[in-house]
Amino acid sequence: MLQAERVVRRCRELAVISEEEGRLTRWFGGDAMARANELVGRWMAEAGMAVRVDAALNLVGSLPGSDPEAGTLLLGSHLDTVRDAGAFDGPLGVIAAIACVERLRAQEVSLPFSVDVLGFSDEEGLRFGTAYLGSRAVAGTLDDATRALIGAGAAAASRRGERLLGYVELHIEQGPVLEQRGAPVGVVTAIAGATRAEVTFTGRAGHAGTVPMELRRDAACGLAELVLAAEAAARAEPGLVATCGRLEALPGAPNVIVGSAVASLDVRHADDAVRARVVAGLRARGDEIAGARGLELAWDERMATPAVAMDPVFCDLLAQAAAARGAPDVRLPSGAGHDAVALSELTRVAMLFVRCAGGVSHHPDESVDAADVAVALDVLDGFLRLLAERGAR
Ligand code: GLV
Ligand code: MN
Ligand code: MN
Repeated sequence: MLQAERVVRRCRELAVISEEEGRLTRWFGGDAMARANELVGRWMAEAGMAVRVDAALNLVGSLPGSDPEAGTLLLGSHLDTVRDAGAFDGPLGVIAAIACVERLRAQEVSLPFSVDVLGFSDEEGLRFGTAYLGSRAVAGTLDDATRALIGAGAAAASRRGERLLGYVELHIEQGPVLEQRGAPVGVVTAIAGATRAEVTFTGRAGHAGTVPMELRRDAACGLAELVLAAEAAARAEPGLVATCGRLEALPGAPNVIVGSAVASLDVRHADDAVRARVVAGLRARGDEIAGARGLELAWDERMATPAVAMDPVFCDLLAQAAAARGAPDVRLPSGAGHDAVALSELTRVAMLFVRCAGGVSHHPDESVDAADVAVALDVLDGFLRLLAERGAR
């Protein structure tokens, strides 16, 4: 419990490191990310790990195993945040993994395989609107457009070709299921697929007092119609969620008709075909709206990731470790995206969710109970030992 309390305290300590006064915001390549890497890197070093920052600005702490042939297990999560974030989305998984390494060393347990704890540099996509930059670099799946954004040198972070045993990520649930089920932790079955696009309507700016309504080409009105169309499409499709989280109207003055209006669009569903159909439908609707209003529509798809299933063997080991700790066997899908999506193109992946209060996340009120974190640490520790016993297969 003491160790879990310290994990929670460290998450809160890290949450003070921000780009913005009075709220937690850390984006890829920012000064706050560099300072976060420094602090977490110090904790890694204190836990006995060799620490480096890779070519994609991911923080990496390495603990060698006793058998150099046994390969490496990857643990961790991300250290970047959304704007005005809570303290636990991402950092909990990194700091909990460090605690597991500390525990192994304190108990003089030597695993045959090496353990690398990763603090990914960009899971949220706050800076460029495209998520998983750090983990895609590690997976060796950066595309040309992304390399242009973050520099071709980032590709050197790739771990392709190494003997990797898998990637296990501990993360807050960010939803209400575990709380409803009365369970401290749950084993993730799959992560929903997601499409992100930036949608821009362009019309004509003009004087708010003089241009008659029938002569206007108001981009904000077109965008408003599309935002409502996205909401209606999501409500009509079971299991689908659609969000326009960033809206911008330019030039942005009360007495000027909006000449250009931009929205981010984020659409998710567990079934990739359903998501693709809804996104195509929204795009067609956007063209209709633009046509009817004399606007131009630019549709820039920034990201499309398929739904990803977790590795069944790793899931069973996590469930076995949870049972040994007396936790109920709860399995649940994730509507949120995680670095495990990107890593699934490199190695097998699994995730353990920790209950969070009220299911609140992407909000400064995000919180976890240290007692639940204590269970999660035991489960992750149990998983490592079970994997070692199996000969890490
Ligand atoms: C990450 O938090 C996401 O699901 O967008
Ligand atoms: Mn997040
Ligand atoms: Mn996250």
